[in-house]
Amino acid sequence: MTALTVNGRPVAFDLDPATPLLWALRDAANLTGTKYGCGVGDCHACTVIVDGEALRSCLVTLAEAEGRFVTTIEGLSRDRSHPVQQAMVAEQAIQCGFCTPGIVMAAAALLAKNAAPGEAEIAAALPNLCRCGVYPRLVRAVERAARVAARRETIGAAPAPGISAEDAAKAVPAMDPGA
Ligand code: FES
Ligand code: FES
Repeated sequence: MTALTVNGRPVAFDLDPATPLLWALRDAANLTGTKYGCGVGDCHACTVIVDGEALRSCLVTLAEAEGRFVTTIEGLSRDRSHPVQQAMVAEQAIQCGFCTPGIVMAAAALLAKNAAPGEAEIAAALPNLCRCGVYPRLVRAVERAARVAARRETIGAAPAPGISAEDAAKAVPAMDPGA
């Protein structure tokens, strides 16, 4: 058994200690928000926060995670209200969304250490690959998230899934069919 804390809950994994944390989270804990992209450390899609550090969970073994505090995208906020989540939606920095959980976790870890990162610092902290190419929006989103976290700006709640097209258009002007 390998004991660690995942999203605030103590968890004991009955798996080979050499198992990558990514597989323990996805396949054993059913936390599938953390994505498998390359499995070899290149894409950062699998990024989670371990004791405050953004780490690629495909490169961390269960044995290395023992006794540590792991946060996945599911544990970042209960209602998608984390400033990075709000800003990613508001800046439309999400296309297919596959890379998004890893990016959000890396950005959240960055802002926890650096309340006002510059563009170069954001680029350095987010080497995540995005096949949809959201990079310019990503920088804007993280800068905006920093302002939201500092309470210098607020972002209205994103429409919930299943919202009607009319209501979505009210919340997202670019989607207004009458515009
Ligand atoms: S799946 Fe971990 S870096 Fe690509
Ligand atoms: S939004 Fe599609 S891979 Fe980044």
